[in-house]
Amino acid sequence: MKRLLVGYRAQDLFVKGRRGAKRPSPLLEGDVTCHVLDIYHRHAIEKTHHVKAICSAHLPEGPWDEIYFKTGSKIMSGELALDLLQEVSRLAGGNLKPPQFHLEFDGKERDRNALLEKVLDDPDRVRSFSAKWRASVPGCPPIELTSFPGCFCHRRPDDGGLALAEVVSRELASRGDSGRKLKLLDMGCGCGLVGFLVASAVKNIDLVMVDSHSRAIEATTLNSKNLGLPAEAILSDNGTPARMDGSFDVFVGNPPYYSDYRIAEVFLDTAVRSLRTGGLCYTVVKNDAGLRPLQERYFPVVEVIRRRGYCVLKSVKTA
Ligand SMILES: C[S@@+](CC[C@H](N)C(=O)[O-])C[C@H]1O[C@@H](n2cnc3c(N)ncnc32)[C@H](O)[C@@H]1O
Repeated sequence: MKRLLVGYRAQDLFVKGRRGAKRPSPLLEGDVTCHVLDIYHRHAIEKTHHVKAICSAHLPEGPWDEIYFKTGSKIMSGELALDLLQEVSRLAGGNLKPPQFHLEFDGKERDRNALLEKVLDDPDRVRSFSAKWRASVPGCPPIELTSFPGCFCHRRPDDGGLALAEVVSRELASRGDSGRKLKLLDMGCGCGLVGFLVASAVKNIDLVMVDSHSRAIEATTLNSKNLGLPAEAILSDNGTPARMDGSFDVFVGNPPYYSDYRIAEVFLDTAVRSLRTGGLCYTVVKNDAGLRPLQERYFPVVEVIRRRGYCVLKSVKTA
């Protein structure tokens, strides 16, 4: 019996036993594979459970005897849920019923049924949820980017990302050594908004883009090809260990601010280790009160540049 679990996180794979003690869920018994979209979740599952976990932008091909899909409005967007359910339906040969298929829906029964009906009513219809949209920095023609459900800023540019791209493009364009090729690391690149805008405005840049989300990396790879802007796209949630060699000229990051700045800290640690002496670190945040003291632990000086209602925090790496 080969079972595929989709949408489950490490904490979902426990059940409470007697006296509240946690034990592995019966879902994990047998030949089980967990699919996740973010490599952070793969690492969390591998750390806590003896089970195979795959992180990829699309569901692994079967054959699967059983597919369990966990979703709900607090777990993922409706668009991502429908996109994944379409993939599940294809893998299950259209059979979205037990015992082959099980839907664990966190939410109202009517929302659960509405989701299922969308696929069951027209099983041959394959909807595409990718979106193309444009973004630009002042003085440069717009670039067209593609994003997918699950990517940060799907369908529209993020204002924080735009603020960061605008400040970095302006500063790099006015630098003195404009002839020299620059190495730029865009961490948490999403679909590549910041890195590609900067590279389109400031020629002569080598781009390395990192994200923990497989669909962000899929979108970045596609956008690099479509824009003709070569970029190395790396799936990672702990920086780029092999590349943190102190050779980068510029680091840009628009980190997520949930998790009490823990992820922002991974970004800053990567910045300080990947930049050369004299290299520039730029991060962006709505309000600098929380990030600024953290960035000061990694860099001696933090300058705040305000743009679009956001704060871009600039630091220079010293020896
Ligand atoms: C706020 S979004 C910014 C996306 C893009 N740079 C922009 O400005 O539109 C943060 C991104 O960081 C990614 N991310 C979260 N944790 C990460 C980690 N540990 N390592 C790398 N990327 C991470 C998320 O997947 C997401 O794409």
